[in-house]
Amino acid sequence: MKNGTAKTGTFIAIANMKGGVGKTTTVVSLAEALAADDLATSVLVVDLDPQASASLCLAGDDLLADLIEGGRTLQDFLELRLFEHDQKRSLLEFVRSHLSLTTHRGQQLNISLLPCGPKLRLFEREIIYAYTKKGHSMNGIEGVLWTMFKAYFRPLRETYDYIIFDCPPGISPFTEVAIRSSDLVIIPTIPDEISNFGLNAFCESLWRSEVGSTLPRPPKPFVLPTRVQQNVKQHVQMLSRFEVEAAASDSAYRLIRTRIPQAAALASALVLDGHPTFTQKYGPAIVPVLDALTQEIKEMCHAGRD
Ligand SMILES: Nc1ncnc2c1ncn2[C@@H]1O[C@H](COP(=O)(O)OP(=O)(O)OP(=O)(O)O)[C@@H](O)[C@H]1O
Ligand SMILES: [Mg+2]
Repeated sequence: MKNGTAKTGTFIAIANMKGGVGKTTTVVSLAEALAADDLATSVLVVDLDPQASASLCLAGDDLLADLIEGGRTLQDFLELRLFEHDQKRSLLEFVRSHLSLTTHRGQQLNISLLPCGPKLRLFEREIIYAYTKKGHSMNGIEGVLWTMFKAYFRPLRETYDYIIFDCPPGISPFTEVAIRSSDLVIIPTIPDEISNFGLNAFCESLWRSEVGSTLPRPPKPFVLPTRVQQNVKQHVQMLSRFEVEAAASDSAYRLIRTRIPQAAALASALVLDGHPTFTQKYGPAIVPVLDALTQEIKEMCHAGRD
């Protein structure tokens, strides 16, 4: 598909209702792994989480503070378009291009960021309030967000090979729209009892529930086992349960073969520190894991397009 200009433009949502399972770690490490795998690949990370963790990991404290103060975030764009009716601004103007400090084979990784700040949460509430006042139902508001997403985000397919959403814990209105409009939905999940409970609740809410949304159904999600500890019996048993569940004919999800281990290298990968190479940053134990994940994701994307 790639010929130097044509982009594959795959939307990937990384989401889980449960917090702290490794969503942001997956977003950042997957973005870097995809960009390192092929240096011509361009990746855009879209931060939908008001905690702004992905923005912080990629931009660092100082730049993120400048972007928030300078009105250069996702909610600033949406505010202009939805409430101030400034139709001239394009979403691309709010993207911070080529900001990765990580290199591979002497080149900077081609990663861009659409940052957000803590005000995104209030802004989502403002949208709901404003459209409720205009007489829209909840389904109507979802419809507004859906239309907005199509108009503003879909054109990004022409600029980037991968557009990865870092979703907040819970199911915010933006998360719901991002999941329903993505080509691939990945649910990072710790293989333990409490996370499995959260996983089932999440799948029930978004994939199995017949009532509620009028938006299109999202694609069947893929569970990515994260923070896996092979020496913990509960983890090993839960991984077997994931395999059985994923193989069932009425399964709620499919299972990614790659398992992300609990590893200090992944925890520290979220902290910006100098200009490391991809190999230095993740180290010899994690680089092959990220390579395997990248190949699997690329296969899934190809399968989705065929
Ligand atoms: N594979 C891992 N090995 C070790 N630590 C990890 C791993 N994955 C995530 N962590 C650590 O766990 C914490 C939560 O990770 P992360 O922020 O990626 O989760 P999250 O699902 O995005 O959280 P939230 O729901 O708050 O957005 C962080 O401190 C991170 O460094
Ligand atoms: Mg997060």
